[in-house]
Amino acid sequence: MLNQMMAATPNAKVEFLTDAVMWHGELNAEGWLRVRIDRRDKSANALSQAMLVELERLLAEIKRNPAVRGVIFFSGKPGSFIVGADVTEMKSLTSSRAAELSQFGQRVFEQVETMHVPTVALISGACLGGGLEFAMSCRYRIADDHVKTLLGLPEVKLGLIPGWGGTVRLPRLIGLIESLPMILTGRTLNGRQARSKGLVHDVVPIEALPFVGEELLRTVAKFGTARAIFKRPKRSWLSRLMESFPPLRSFAFGRAEKETLKQTKGRYPAPLAALETLRAGFRQPPSIGFAAESAAIKRLAESPVTHECLRLFFLQEEAKKPASIDSSSSQQTPTRDAAVIGAGAMGSGIALLMAQKGIWTRLKDINPEFLSKGLATARKQIQADLKRKKITAIQATDTLDRLRPTTDHSGFNQTDIVIEAIVEELAIKQSVFRELAKSTSPTTVLATNTSSLLVKEIAAGVPHPERVVGLHFFNPPLQMPLVEIVRTEQTSSAALATAFSLTQRLGKTAVIVRDCPGFLVNRLLAPYMNEAGYLLLEVDDPLEIDRAAVEFGMPMGPLELTDLVGLEVAQHVAANMHAAYGERMTPAPLWAALKEIASSEPHAAKTLLVGKGSRKKLNPAVRRAIAKVRQSGLYSVPGGTPAQDDITQRLIHSIINEAARCLDEKIVDKPEDIDLAMVFGTGFAPFRGGPMRFAETTGWNQVISDLERHAAGRPRLAPSAALRILAQGHHN
Ligand code: NAI
Repeated sequence: MLNQMMAATPNAKVEFLTDAVMWHGELNAEGWLRVRIDRRDKSANALSQAMLVELERLLAEIKRNPAVRGVIFFSGKPGSFIVGADVTEMKSLTSSRAAELSQFGQRVFEQVETMHVPTVALISGACLGGGLEFAMSCRYRIADDHVKTLLGLPEVKLGLIPGWGGTVRLPRLIGLIESLPMILTGRTLNGRQARSKGLVHDVVPIEALPFVGEELLRTVAKFGTARAIFKRPKRSWLSRLMESFPPLRSFAFGRAEKETLKQTKGRYPAPLAALETLRAGFRQPPSIGFAAESAAIKRLAESPVTHECLRLFFLQEEAKKPASIDSSSSQQTPTRDAAVIGAGAMGSGIALLMAQKGIWTRLKDINPEFLSKGLATARKQIQADLKRKKITAIQATDTLDRLRPTTDHSGFNQTDIVIEAIVEELAIKQSVFRELAKSTSPTTVLATNTSSLLVKEIAAGVPHPERVVGLHFFNPPLQMPLVEIVRTEQTSSAALATAFSLTQRLGKTAVIVRDCPGFLVNRLLAPYMNEAGYLLLEVDDPLEIDRAAVEFGMPMGPLELTDLVGLEVAQHVAANMHAAYGERMTPAPLWAALKEIASSEPHAAKTLLVGKGSRKKLNPAVRRAIAKVRQSGLYSVPGGTPAQDDITQRLIHSIINEAARCLDEKIVDKPEDIDLAMVFGTGFAPFRGGPMRFAETTGWNQVISDLERHAAGRPRLAPSAALRILAQGHHN
């Protein structure tokens, strides 16, 4: 009542929902209601049930107030619009409650869609999941061109599907064919890409965004529509034809299903459920699509795969605030100025990533030729991003500007952090660190990207070794989501905090590990890859080894992984691991036999596998090496030919066995760190939740008894004391 009285007074500002937590409305004299979306109780705008109830109250108030002529929604959180549904609520929801929440959201967004006055969403920053579903229910959407502005429906990544009308509205706005990759794979679009697909009406510079809403509403008030000022992008005739002609449409659905099954191997129910929902709802009255969405949400909420996906999401969120990081500003130096040493595969990728994130980065190499090669790779990547409209021409130039090639240490005294990524030789790394200590300030954090050397040995002899830390990126650094942060006994909390804050700025998931040979991920992969060397001596069909691993859910088998790492590098690492961990990591005798063949025929024994796809087979040189070891009697095969289950257990349980030792030695603080690192560093079957989670669902005692069986004649596989202690703690 008070609101209405005030609204009648010209030039008065009227507050809507004065007790609002998220939707803060203010009506101006022109009749435009500006709604600032700014959750008071959280750092991000996430849509919980309570926030939907509040939105519904706001909509009711708008309907009651005749002074409102148009509504502008914008975010009060810099860098994000609405990040999505409040996923923390999903933890405790039963499947029926999840379906009810889906129906409730659909009803509220339908009220937004059918509002009697025009509505505009001004999108800056993340507009994801439920956030995009809300924006799509507004009549107009304007996005800005900032790099942080991303629109998408990433629900499948959490084992879910859009449940608030997203599968109905997205195809209506951008067409079915364009919607498929967004809904089935969670692909996101930046402002410009969203504009070219018709998902938003316009894209403007970030500075202009706050002003375009009112202008737009004035135009609508004058002409009844804003169609004249927005040109709808032309959709390809092929897409339109495929959607309109039923046999072609079912062909498109069939193709999408085949591709989904190929990508997910049928292990993830969410993309298939999304496809089914789209099939049911496309070109039907919205109520049919909505009902299909809620039914799918109900089924997915019961799926164990969804639970694992959600758990991984929460682990990732928790990893943003690790207990061992002192996040007080006195401890952290935000990286403004950095340097990378070594312009090879890793160094050039890391340097580009930093430059992309706004950090002035010197890239140093001793070899000018390698330096220009590294820069050329970076330039190629930038060009590709430009072509795909991921960045603007100005952003491309800015990134390149921030990347400074050099062959000396000039300007190093200004750097906040230096990351070394040169050849994996201890003596060379040590001398580089000694030089760095001279050319940088004593507070500059010195990081190494070593993958197999001890950080403390690299730091030996460096004045102020407390500033030395490991930053182990994975290959390729632009794409791989994990970074291991390695702390030595001496690493200071300030150096650790600075390294951690850099990983966050680079958008990586960081796991903090203590210094040990192989750190966490490579240490766990070592027995997995080595066991494949033993298995090659035992199986009839060598390809069965990779098949077993892939069937289990690994992105690739250990043989393919060895080839990816490089046979020579893998052998080098295996020898280091043996030296560090002794007996149980004794390299499979096959590796030595292979090395011998390689010394006389270097080209014949470069990889374990040859050929591609279905033509892939064992390298004949490896076959010869196997025959040689078998004849030599160096390895007596215990028992018969291993079955697929035996192969899987020997590979996967080897990882679990070593992981238990890592926990015992406090290489990481908790089992969840192992799951996170293995899923994001190696792609370890996400639907199984990681090795520790897999052991828990299998049963720790089961893992132990499997290992005991395999250990007969193979002492390396004997369950470790640490594993037994872990099993006792779990009582299963
Ligand atoms: P790379 O051989 O491609 O590049 C090394 C670069 O360092 C070369 O350009 C070389 O000219 C340069 N360099 C050598 N000595 C130098 C010095 N004293 N000063 C400046 N530059 C120097 O090697 P890659 O693969 O990039 O590996 C670099 C480091 O990253 C190694 O420590 C490696 O263990 C680690 N790493 C490698 C991964 C991979 O998959 N390649 C994954 C994770 C870590």
